[in-house]
Amino acid sequence: MEMAATILVCLVLILPTVAGVTEGCCEDLSKTLGSKVSYPASAAYNASIASFWSQQEQLITPSCVVSAKSVQDVSNAMRVLGPKSCKFAVRSGGHAALAGSANIQDGVTIDLSGLDWIHPFSNHSLVSIGPGQTWGKVYSSLDALGVSVPGGRDGPVGVGGTTLGGGFGYFATKAGFACNNIVAYELVLANGTVVNATRSRYSDLWMALKGGSNSFGIVTNFVFQTFPLGAIWGGDIYYNISTIDAQLEAFYRFTSNPSYDTNAGLLHNFAYTPEVGPLIVNQYAYAKPDPNPATFRAFILLQPQISNTTQVSSLETLSVNAGKASPNSFQQITFAVTFTNELAMLQELFTIWNSSTSEVSAVAGIKWSLTLVPIVPAITFHSAIKGSDVLGLSVPPQGLVLTLLSASFNSSDDYSMVNRVANRLSDKIIRTAKEFGVYNTYVDLNHGAAWQDPIASYGSESVAFLQRTAQKYDPTGVFQTQCPGGFKVFGLERNV
Ligand SMILES: Cc1cc2nc3c(=O)[nH]c(=O)nc-3n(C[C@H](O)[C@H](O)[C@H](O)COP(=O)(O)OP(=O)(O)OC[C@H]3O[C@@H](n4cnc5c(N)ncnc54)[C@H](O)[C@@H]3O)c2cc1C
Ligand SMILES: *[C@@H]1O[C@H](CO)[C@@H](O)[C@H](O)[C@H]1NC(C)=O
Ligand SMILES: *[C@@H]1O[C@H](CO)[C@@H](O)[C@H](O)[C@H]1NC(C)=O
Ligand SMILES: *[C@@H]1O[C@H](CO)[C@@H](O)[C@H](O)[C@H]1NC(C)=O
Ligand SMILES: *[C@@H]1O[C@H](CO)[C@@H](O)[C@H](O)[C@H]1NC(C)=O
Ligand SMILES: *[C@@H]1O[C@H](CO)[C@@H](O)[C@H](O)[C@H]1NC(C)=O
Ligand SMILES: *[C@@H]1O[C@H](CO)[C@@H](O)[C@H](O)[C@H]1NC(C)=O
Ligand SMILES: *[C@@H]1O[C@H](CO)[C@@H](O)[C@H](O)[C@H]1NC(C)=O
Ligand SMILES: *[C@@H]1O[C@H](CO)[C@@H](O)[C@H](O)[C@H]1NC(C)=O
Repeated sequence: MEMAATILVCLVLILPTVAGVTEGCCEDLSKTLGSKVSYPASAAYNASIASFWSQQEQLITPSCVVSAKSVQDVSNAMRVLGPKSCKFAVRSGGHAALAGSANIQDGVTIDLSGLDWIHPFSNHSLVSIGPGQTWGKVYSSLDALGVSVPGGRDGPVGVGGTTLGGGFGYFATKAGFACNNIVAYELVLANGTVVNATRSRYSDLWMALKGGSNSFGIVTNFVFQTFPLGAIWGGDIYYNISTIDAQLEAFYRFTSNPSYDTNAGLLHNFAYTPEVGPLIVNQYAYAKPDPNPATFRAFILLQPQISNTTQVSSLETLSVNAGKASPNSFQQITFAVTFTNELAMLQELFTIWNSSTSEVSAVAGIKWSLTLVPIVPAITFHSAIKGSDVLGLSVPPQGLVLTLLSASFNSSDDYSMVNRVANRLSDKIIRTAKEFGVYNTYVDLNHGAAWQDPIASYGSESVAFLQRTAQKYDPTGVFQTQCPGGFKVFGLERNV
């Protein structure tokens, strides 16, 4: 645990010393990219930095921002950054929580939010989507065509980061993770060369990008396979904490149901604020316009309820409404722990979380939630039939429970304390899961904490493949050393 804090401190101390190196980098970029390169205090630079989600990402000030508009811009940027050994970060939607994931102090931040097209193919079975686009807009375009892609849940989150880290959305049970639905990646390699990776061409890159994140190149286009989707039902119900025992039983049964209804997606949340105390919040999604579907009945009937926004609507509406609960500009800490679905473990998980709330209750603006997401066999079935991925997941019949922390608070002054409590909570959950014999090593990269190593969690076979592939296409390790942000295939030690 202490190691995580040390790594963060090192980053903060070391980064300013590279300032001199990157000044020449920005000048050379300006020569080829002109006004697409912006500098501190300009309106374009300010807007790019202010549009990061977490406060810690917003507080990082790169030497310049490259606002790319095309694959050619990204290729031109890489042709400057590689040879000059410039430090850089790659940013799509800017929603990764950790400082330095997609922004870099005194380096060059490549902002892909201008790569924002959504081009459905004429038969609507495929759609090209730019990495800088956000899920809310993707869903609104595709809703109109009666199709969808299984992307992230909240409207403002970026397509790029989500899809490269796996991508677990409302309707994963209908189509798999986001990454399982990519038939082609357009990618700028470390030396600026552009390639299309498909199942038959650059097939190793195609596979590596299905969970391997930003160690291989900069993805400039995703071709997604779509699935049919019309009107849906969904929304949130907030419940009194007195319903907890029945909630956990319902969650256990829902997740282990051998005839799981694949139209159903569920997020089960233990939510805490000091003002209201602990609550249960269930976020429901159903891929048909059927109010109160039978599969959710055991939850829906529970009382007392505090509020209810469920309705027949569109995926766009569901996604935009969900996004409103997570505004920009707060400090954010997440972690991800996975275990086999078991009732006694779920009960212990609640007890552990509930007792952790007193440790953060004095933190200004604290919201402290654990989200439980069922990973059922129907999800990895889609991975298997669509050519697999590198996540290394194997799901038992009773399902896995993906457990995500969302901690949000006002001030960086509280970061190290909240991070310590989060780390202790994660350790305690892991220890308990091991005691119950239900621990699963999988760490969802899209919610990994500073002290976690999601790529290592995929298993040694995936790690060896990912490292081999990174070395093949980036032999000098540009993405490992010059682009330190995010989770790398060579692990935590290479991040520092
Ligand atoms: C409110 C909220 C809701 C969320 N809901 C979900 C959810 O439902 N399901 C889910 O799976 N995740 C979810 N997430 C997590 C989300 O998937 C991750 O935060 C993801 O990193 C966001 O992608 P982004 O493009 O916005 O992030 P960024 O911060 O821009 O990028 C994240 C990482 O990906 C790398 N990267 C981004 N684009 C590229 C590219 N084109 N080429 C190479 N590398 C790239 C970056 O370098 C960085 O390391 C949610 C996050 C938030 C804040
Ligand atoms: C950009 O932000 C800086 C710092 O907050 C401010 O001084 C500057 O005026 C801003 N620039 C513009 C064009 O708004
Ligand atoms: C849709 O078009 C793409 C190429 O344009 C093709 O590869 C695919 O097979 C088509 N799908 C169907 C269902 O016709
Ligand atoms: C990659 O594929 C796209 C179509 O999806 C095409 O426009 C582009 O030219 C291709 N690039 C290369 C380098 O083959
Ligand atoms: C939950 O129920 C208890 C007991 O009925 C009540 O005191 C409390 O105010 C309720 N909490 C909320 C948030 O409504
Ligand atoms: C939630 O609200 C919707 C719309 O008002 C209503 O149809 C539904 O019955 C409510 N559900 C519950 C469990 O009260
Ligand atoms: C949560 O913990 C508090 C003490 O911290 C306790 O009073 C309360 O009963 C617990 N809630 C539940 C539902 O167990
Ligand atoms: C935290 O920030 C929010 C939004 O800026 C503000 O409303 C709230 O008062 C702050 N809380 C504290 C305790 O500072
Ligand atoms: C760029 O890198 C790729 C992968 O290593 C290699 O195949 C290609 O020849 C390189 N291109 C140039 C121009 O060096």
